Amino acid sequence: MKEILKVKGLVRKFGDKTAVAGVDFSIQEGEFVGLLGPNGAGKTTTIRMLTGLLKPTEGEVFYYGKDFSRHAKEAKGFIGVVHQYSNLDRDLTAYENLYLHCILHGIPKEERNSRIEESLEFAGLAEHRDRQVKTFSGGMKRRLVIVRALLHEPKILFLDEPTVGLDPQIRRSLWDLIVKVNQLKSMAILLTTHYIEEAERLCQRVMIINRGKIISSGSPEELKKDLGRYVLEVFHEDHIEERFYNTREEALEELKKCTLSSRIREVTLEDVFLKLTGRRINV
Ligand SMILES: Nc1ncnc2c1ncn2[C@@H]1O[C@H](COP(=O)(O)OP(=O)(O)OP(=O)(O)O)[C@@H](O)[C@H]1O
Ligand SMILES: [Mg+2]
Repeated sequence: MKEILKVKGLVRKFGDKTAVAGVDFSIQEGEFVGLLGPNGAGKTTTIRMLTGLLKPTEGEVFYYGKDFSRHAKEAKGFIGVVHQYSNLDRDLTAYENLYLHCILHGIPKEERNSRIEESLEFAGLAEHRDRQVKTFSGGMKRRLVIVRALLHEPKILFLDEPTVGLDPQIRRSLWDLIVKVNQLKSMAILLTTHYIEEAERLCQRVMIINRGKIISSGSPEELKKDLGRYVLEVFHEDHIEERFYNTREEALEELKKCTLSSRIREVTLEDVFLKLTGRRINV
C-alpha cells in the first residue's frame, strides 16, 4: 500500500484560539479513515488545511511525499472534497452542475459527457439529470456533491460531515454510496463526523479528535476492546453508572444483583470518548 497523505504537527490558530493543536497521521491508498469528534473539535479546520483552503499556522502536509505548500497544484489533482456546507448551483440541473466541475478541473471536453453520465448512474440520479437542483431533496443533493467530487478521479476523498441533518433512512442510503465509492473505486476516504454509528459502521480506522488534538486512534474494535464489550448501565437517581464487562454473561450476573433499574448494551465509541474526556460527543 502506498501512502497518499502524511500530516506532521499540524496547527491552526485563530487569534488566541487554537482550533487544531498539533495533529499527526497518515493515510494509505484505499483506506477508509474517520475523524470523530464533538462540535468545535477542529474537524473542519483540519479538512480545510488538507485541501488548501486554509494555511496552517504550523506543520507540514505531504501528498505522495511531496510538500503540499510547494506542490499545491499537482496535489489538488489527487484531492476530492465535499465540504460541510457544500455549494451546488440551485438554478442549474444536475448535469450542468457536474459539467461546471469538469470545466473547473480541466477535464478534456471529449471525456466530460461520459464521466458525467457514469457519475449520475453511480449516484442513482440518472433519471434526474435534467432537473434543477433546487427541486432535489437533501439526500439527492448530497449524492450529487459526492459524485461531483469524484469527476476528476482523485485518489482521496474528504467528506466533512456528509450526512449531517439527514433523517436516518436517507443517512443509510448515503452510507451505501460512500462504501461503494471506497470499495468499487478503491478510493481513500477521510470522513469527519460526530455520529458514533457512522464512524463505527464505515471506518476501518477512527481517529478521535477533541479540542484540536487526536486523543486516540485505531479500528473501532481496537478502540473499544480496552473497555470490555458490554456495559451495564445502572440508573441512580441523579446519574447513570457504567460498568464494563468482557462478556454478556458477566454483565448479566451483575445485573441480577442490582437493586436499581439497569440495562445491558454493547460498548460504543461514545463510551471510549467519555472515558478519555469525561464528556459525551453528542450532548
Ligand atoms: N474562521 C474562524 N475564526 C475563528 N475561529 C474559528 C474559525 N473557524 C473555526 N474556528 C474555531 O475553531 C474551533 C474548531 O472549529 P471547527 O469548525 O474546525 O470544528 P468542527 O470539529 O468542524 O465542529 P462542527 O462539528 O461543529 O463542524 C471552534 O472553536 C471554532 O469556533
Ligand atoms: Mg465542522
